[in-house]
Amino acid sequence: MGRSTPFYACQSCGAQSRQFFGRCPGCGSWNSLVEQSSPAADGRRRRATPAPPVDGAAPRGRRSEPIHSVGERPLRRLATGFPELDRVLGGGLVPGSLVLVGGDPGIGKSTLLLQSARALADSCSVLYVSAEESAQQVKLRWRRLGPEQGAEPASEQDGLQLLAETDLELVLQELEALRPAVAIIDSIQALHDAELSSAPGSVSQVRDCAAALQRLAKRQDTALLLVGHVTKEGMLAGPKVLEHLVDAVLTFEGDRFASHRLLRAVKNRFGPTHELGVFEMRDRGLAEVTNPSELFLGGEGPCAGTATIVACEGTRPLLVDLQALVSTTSYASPRRTATGIGINRLHQILAVLEKHLGLPLSRFDCYLAVAGGLDVEEPAADLGVAAAVVASYRDLTLPAGTVLVGELGLGGQIRPVGQLELRLQEAARLGFTRAVVPRSSGLAPVAAALGLELLEAAGVAEALVAALGVDPAAD
Ligand SMILES: Nc1ncnc2c1ncn2[C@@H]1O[C@H](COP(=O)(O)OP(=O)(O)O)[C@@H](O)[C@H]1O
Ligand SMILES: [Mg+2]
Repeated sequence: MGRSTPFYACQSCGAQSRQFFGRCPGCGSWNSLVEQSSPAADGRRRRATPAPPVDGAAPRGRRSEPIHSVGERPLRRLATGFPELDRVLGGGLVPGSLVLVGGDPGIGKSTLLLQSARALADSCSVLYVSAEESAQQVKLRWRRLGPEQGAEPASEQDGLQLLAETDLELVLQELEALRPAVAIIDSIQALHDAELSSAPGSVSQVRDCAAALQRLAKRQDTALLLVGHVTKEGMLAGPKVLEHLVDAVLTFEGDRFASHRLLRAVKNRFGPTHELGVFEMRDRGLAEVTNPSELFLGGEGPCAGTATIVACEGTRPLLVDLQALVSTTSYASPRRTATGIGINRLHQILAVLEKHLGLPLSRFDCYLAVAGGLDVEEPAADLGVAAAVVASYRDLTLPAGTVLVGELGLGGQIRPVGQLELRLQEAARLGFTRAVVPRSSGLAPVAAALGLELLEAAGVAEALVAALGVDPAAD
């Protein structure tokens, strides 16, 4: 793009064009295009900062080096005070890394980060930049999250510095002056760069502020935690503009009506993704839930239409109760609703049951719910869904202590699933005694050692007969 040519950028998806549109050609939102000065002019100020010095003297004119001679630094990690958060980060916060924490407003992002700041400040210097709340408000929260008053004298924490500021330039100056080990920006959407004409929270502001912070943080090895709000459309920090810039993206989610919160890594350059951390919101802040399976088991014990599965979130197995309600329909087309499982998966499983077991499910409404508000995306839940549906249809109760794991193929076959051993261990740990699993799992010795009765099945009919103890297809 030429130096002086104006261009237009969509404030919700970041798409750029030379022409003005009333509706963004990228994401379809209306009136979101805003005229920008050219990118070259936009970045005139800080882009001039020199690149960080390259370690080791490479010969003049050569900047690459053989990979074996690249100096290695052991990856240090900082403990955040929450082993659950450390695990989602891949073992702790990496100095110099940039982590984006996203989530709906009110879910507890500020609480999580302020509690971590408190713990981190015991071992290193922390700067907490509050761009949304006044210093007074943060102080009040800090008090509430701390130890009971009177129990011990309020500790003096000099390691935790607080700055209530929205101007990017002042935040950068403070970061440069303090050189903290960890800086928390709450939130990136509330910061603004006075040199840009667009409003705080717009794409160009968010991108520019994050990039400027990142350059400085990398240079002085400060770990940066950015809070980003999720927009109405469920996207992080306005658009996905920040996702490729940062080292890790964590999402904090939960049910407004339940007290537990789930923290996941969507992207992580320093650890695995799909790790799950489970927290509970209490009046004195967030507490870790170390035994989350208990949260997702209904607790009512076996009843008609309930089945227990072992879902895997990252490396963490979770026992989850599924409930189905199958009842005669009074509509022209039967109602199907699914909470916590994709509706298309439910349709598919119902079709397989109708075809391979001969159950006339198209004449029945079917409601399915996952206990505890968890979203189960894995296909390994299929067999559990099938069992819950058939049990409700036949008004049967699965024998107590039964778990089911298996993916259902369209041909009615039970497909193998990953991490089965881990799942069986978790089931045994929580006192389950029977597991229905795909054929040829090779885990008979493991199950025997765990005291689990292992029921292997190749097809859906066989699996359900094994699980229920009766043939659901027999009239
Ligand atoms: N004084 C309080 N007592 C108990 N809980 C509170 C109090 N203030 C806030 N909370 C809880 O903290 C949550 C807000 O968390 P917060 O960290 O501000 O969310 P976010 O930063 O994600 O918007 C509220 O939903 C509420 O449940
Ligand atoms: Mg907040």
